[in-house]
Amino acid sequence: MKKEKVLVTSALPYANGRIHLGHLSGAYLPADIYVRYKRLNGDEIIYVCGSDEHGVPITITADKEKVSPKIIIDRYHNLNKEAFEKFGMSFDIYSRTSLPVHHRTAQDFFNTYYKQGLLVEKKSKQFYDEKAKMFLPDRYVEGTCPRCGYEEARSDECERCGSLYEPSELLNPKSKITGETPVLKETSHWYFPLGKFQQRLENYVKEMNEKYGWKDNVLQYCNGWFKDGLKDRAYTRDLDWGVKVPLKSAEGKVLYVWFEAVLGYISATKELSEKKGDPDFWRKYWQNTDTKYIAFIGKDNIVFHTIIFPAMLMAWNDGNDDKYVLPQNVPANEFLNFEGKKFSKSRGWGIDVLEFLEMFPADPLRYTLAANLPENKDTDFYWKEFQARNNGELADILGNFINRTFTFVHKHFNGIVPERKKMEAIDEEMLSLLEKQTAKIASLIEKYKIKDAVFEMMNLARAGNKYFNDSVPWVTIKKDSGKCSTTINICLNTIFTLAEIFEPVIPFSAKKIFEMLNAQPTVWLEAGKENLKPGHKLNPAVILFNKIEDKQIEEQINKLGKLETEPVKKNEEITIDEFKRVKLKTAKIVFAENVKKSDKLLRLELDLGSEKRQVVAGIAKSYTPEELIGKQVLIVANLKPAKLFGLESQGMILALDSTDDGKVKIIEVDSSVIPGTAAK
Ligand code: MF3
Ligand code: ZN
Repeated sequence: MKKEKVLVTSALPYANGRIHLGHLSGAYLPADIYVRYKRLNGDEIIYVCGSDEHGVPITITADKEKVSPKIIIDRYHNLNKEAFEKFGMSFDIYSRTSLPVHHRTAQDFFNTYYKQGLLVEKKSKQFYDEKAKMFLPDRYVEGTCPRCGYEEARSDECERCGSLYEPSELLNPKSKITGETPVLKETSHWYFPLGKFQQRLENYVKEMNEKYGWKDNVLQYCNGWFKDGLKDRAYTRDLDWGVKVPLKSAEGKVLYVWFEAVLGYISATKELSEKKGDPDFWRKYWQNTDTKYIAFIGKDNIVFHTIIFPAMLMAWNDGNDDKYVLPQNVPANEFLNFEGKKFSKSRGWGIDVLEFLEMFPADPLRYTLAANLPENKDTDFYWKEFQARNNGELADILGNFINRTFTFVHKHFNGIVPERKKMEAIDEEMLSLLEKQTAKIASLIEKYKIKDAVFEMMNLARAGNKYFNDSVPWVTIKKDSGKCSTTINICLNTIFTLAEIFEPVIPFSAKKIFEMLNAQPTVWLEAGKENLKPGHKLNPAVILFNKIEDKQIEEQINKLGKLETEPVKKNEEITIDEFKRVKLKTAKIVFAENVKKSDKLLRLELDLGSEKRQVVAGIAKSYTPEELIGKQVLIVANLKPAKLFGLESQGMILALDSTDDGKVKIIEVDSSVIPGTAAK
């Protein structure tokens, strides 16, 4: 197969909140699977992403917390970067739009259009909050959609029906800052003349679809837009957070977030180039007609990637010799819901990625989400399904096949790949299936049918188990050793194939399997061949998938819909006498160590003056044992002892709740206080 030059992007998530499972299913996991497959296939590929750090979503969060937007973006950029890493996302770069390279890039595009005379300056009426004395960005205004009547529509865009309109068309507007009815006040903005590009955009979408087969949902969206007729779009906003409009006359104005965020893909690639020490590296992808550019997104981002971004690139290309490639495909996914409802942070519905990965490993999550991607319709994450896919498929089918084969080969063949001595029809069939499945899965992934591909992966593991059963090696080992060694050789080669084809979905486990096999992945289409030769020495087996207990799942289900920080309700108030029952005392930490097999717990020995105590505290993520020794803390001294990891914990250390970095802060007491002093 001809090798391709591929550029893959995933929508840049806003750095104003934590990534949750819905995000993963939309634009990230499918892209990562595609990219990992492409890498194994030997294609030349880069995968770029980063945080979207401007726009009103960020300023709204900052306003709510009464901090600067910078605090918000730093916090969530780091958290989301970490979440993606732990989830196994294999970005070549995870950049951010607050970097100077991005500001320069975005301003450069604006300037180019400006010099081409493309932009149109227009006076318009925008909502202005007289109480807050500011122009209200779109999302600061809520009202009724003039098209469908949805009551929580934004000032220029309706989430429900997807239409865009002029703010003046919004019915019954209210300012989200003050709750007042805003007035329309005149301001001047630069507009990008989208309408001028309509014909070319229609041709572009049509051509790409004919050549590369776009998804129906994406085409339908585009056609809806074309039918309505594309209108000029304001390129600037009255806001102080964002990329400044590079014109003297545009004090206090920034570029509209969508007109710069999409360029974040380019600036991220520039950052990657700088890191590689090859400043022009990005051009080899972005400005190369051979590049196949695929933009993975969720359905709410379609218009920006199939219409606005392509129009921006066309406009640039009209006036410059260094021309950009346009997306060849935009495989947008629908949404993932959570146990039958939309994810909602405010209602405590759903779970974010970091929280999830504290409790369960990444691979079972990747597999469950991948097996159930919202490719053609919205789908749901269900805890019970997660458990069933982990226990019934990863552990009982894939894990079991690998495990029984390894147990057998270590027991009967000294951990060495035996020869194929005697090939029968069943063996030939299994071998041809390996090649067939490898090719079939490749072609599904090439068509972005990731969910179907995952189904075929597990089917191969099913076939492996059936082959093992039908070949009865535990019988032939005694009666027909030639047949037995053939069976085991083929089972081991099947495991190799499985490790490789599953790598894009469960990379952490695939790595372990390759280590067990004492082998390296090969080029994708070779993965179904004989990769393990007779005489090859294998490593001992390790556990790949742990079963998830009912109890663990029930615990999660019970948490749903309950908020962590519920305000105190009347019937939850306590009296002073009730409070006095809690005995708080100072205690000095005289010894601290990590609890084995736990990355959260520390075992502490405390001096309370008249007595010594052992406390097991969940603060290992926030402190090292060394840091703690010698510190004096405050503890609940009359807490009923509990056992954690087999250790008795006699009390609880008071710490300040984690902020969003997930770290807690112990309440330290001055060392002049005598250990064991009561607090009240
Ligand atoms: N930040 C947007 C969102 O989360 C997506 C931006 S995609 C980009 O919906 F291409 F504009 F960066
Ligand atoms: Zn609407």
